[in-house]
Amino acid sequence: MNCHVQGVSANCANLYKYLDIQDSSIEKKSNDQELELLACPICYTPLIREGPPGFNVPAIYWSGFQCQKCLKSYSSKEIFLDLTITSGTKDYVEFKPFKIELFRNPIVSFLYERGWRQSFSKRGFPGLDEEFKMAQEYFKPAEGGILVDVSCGSGLFSRKFAKSGTYSAVVALDLSENMLRQCYDFIKKDDNFLTAKFSLVRADVSRLPFSSGSVDAVHAGAALHCWPSPSNAVAEISRILRSGGVVVGTTFVSFESRIFPPQIKRKFRQLMSTIFTFLTEKEIADLFNSCGFVNYTCKIQQHFIIFSAQKP
Ligand SMILES: C[S@@+](CC[C@H](N)C(=O)[O-])C[C@H]1O[C@@H](n2cnc3c(N)ncnc32)[C@H](O)[C@@H]1O
Repeated sequence: MNCHVQGVSANCANLYKYLDIQDSSIEKKSNDQELELLACPICYTPLIREGPPGFNVPAIYWSGFQCQKCLKSYSSKEIFLDLTITSGTKDYVEFKPFKIELFRNPIVSFLYERGWRQSFSKRGFPGLDEEFKMAQEYFKPAEGGILVDVSCGSGLFSRKFAKSGTYSAVVALDLSENMLRQCYDFIKKDDNFLTAKFSLVRADVSRLPFSSGSVDAVHAGAALHCWPSPSNAVAEISRILRSGGVVVGTTFVSFESRIFPPQIKRKFRQLMSTIFTFLTEKEIADLFNSCGFVNYTCKIQQHFIIFSAQKP
């Protein structure tokens, strides 16, 4: 397997200074719990790693990963590790629905943490600090474990989770390359982040590149309505969480209409689903229960819902 040390952009070359090792002393993989975590998005076999040890952005950047079953190699593009099924394709291009392409846009990604996310407060979102506090309360049973922030956007919560010191490692994961770039721009000025167990991974929530039962906590802030298939995503979250592991999510909740009959509501939902999927509280609870979760609980404030559930 080739170690990913060629074609390095100047920006990323700077990362190398944070590593405690020399190029020549790149070691074979370490057996850290975090390293067993990453799995092939095609067959879910744990990936073999070659490169410097550590679960931080520079160490992962300088590492190569390979699935020994599929023999497919994965490496970092710029600053994030690309663990999508299509990573490395040359001719095949997949067109994603509007709700995904929207957040892949560089302007939207730039604006996201500079006003876009804050505007959610008009719909009842309590603000980043309060949302973080609420999530941390739900995550108590997962303290000290590995947290994956799926659909992290520009990493506004991933960074808070990492800074809290509550978790042994934090993975900021998103499908949008530009959101991950934004996250990197926020952390690159802070040496603590570049040496902390904090990594940036590009992946699809419907195909999470982690071994089954390997994760303690999954956070999905303002994300469920953006996913093309919430059921595939929730099933994947259920697969990667260990027994007792906790998922916490927020989204915009829809309310049961007493005016329109169910057939009309369904048709409207079908039309809307290309834009965003807004579920009712009953539907969210049903979805999590049907994906094998227990102890579902939620809080609602206008259109803001925060929910939590646990793996039995
Ligand atoms: C509204 S933003 C939420 C960002 C952040 N978690 C927050 O709390 O503000 C939704 C994010 O979901 C991501 N997303 C959409 N579809 C996804 C998918 N299939 N897999 C992973 N992330 C996805 C988008 O790229 C976007 O960054």
